[in-house]
Amino acid sequence: MTAAVTPRDEIIETYGEDVWNLILTVYVNFHDSELEIIDLCARWIPRRTDLREKTYLVHHASDEVTHARLFREGVERLGQPWHELDHAKYKIQDIDDRFRKLFDSEDELEVLIGLNLYAEGVLAMEELYQLGRGKPQYFYQFDRIEREERRHVGFGVTVAKRLLAESAENRKRATAYCNWYQEHLDGYLGGELADKIGWAVEAGFVADDYIPRTKERFRSTMSELGILEEA
Ligand SMILES: [Fe+2]
Ligand SMILES: [Fe+2]
Repeated sequence: MTAAVTPRDEIIETYGEDVWNLILTVYVNFHDSELEIIDLCARWIPRRTDLREKTYLVHHASDEVTHARLFREGVERLGQPWHELDHAKYKIQDIDDRFRKLFDSEDELEVLIGLNLYAEGVLAMEELYQLGRGKPQYFYQFDRIEREERRHVGFGVTVAKRLLAESAENRKRATAYCNWYQEHLDGYLGGELADKIGWAVEAGFVADDYIPRTKERFRSTMSELGILEEA
């Protein structure tokens, strides 16, 4: 008797091992990022004094608990047991480094720009948007997750705007963070992610202008705060 064919088998058969590994890379990094974000939200809850702003972090963390569960479920639905995954094989080092930097930061503006606007509003959003529409059968509930990520961007924009209005010094620091992430984006998409984006384009999972679209999303997201220095 032969075992039933799973989506995993079909993916490997149709697209090859690289694309299968790419899918697992997407899931593992999204899942592990959610756990980092939950901890990061928790770190800032006691520091916020405004009740509404405190609530944003509670909602944010709670959404990420759901997303972590959905990412696990997505992998299982492809026929891959979650507990058998070797995370180290799929981890993107750059993501870990950025979370560590944010976790060590004492500056809430840095966290808002690095997490809510950049990691969630630019990088994750473009990925969720394109993969969720391009291959919903492989990227389970990505459209729902994308909608909820928009809310997290909204939380970040609201709090960051309040901080920016408080002082010129805050605006100056925010602009410097924005510049840092702008430079990061240019190096990241064409660097550690280049092969992976290439495989995703080839498989038809994302559009061939994935990189320019992500850069455009950076421009529009950061423009909301008016901290983008036009080149
Ligand atoms: Fe999320
Ligand atoms: Fe989020």
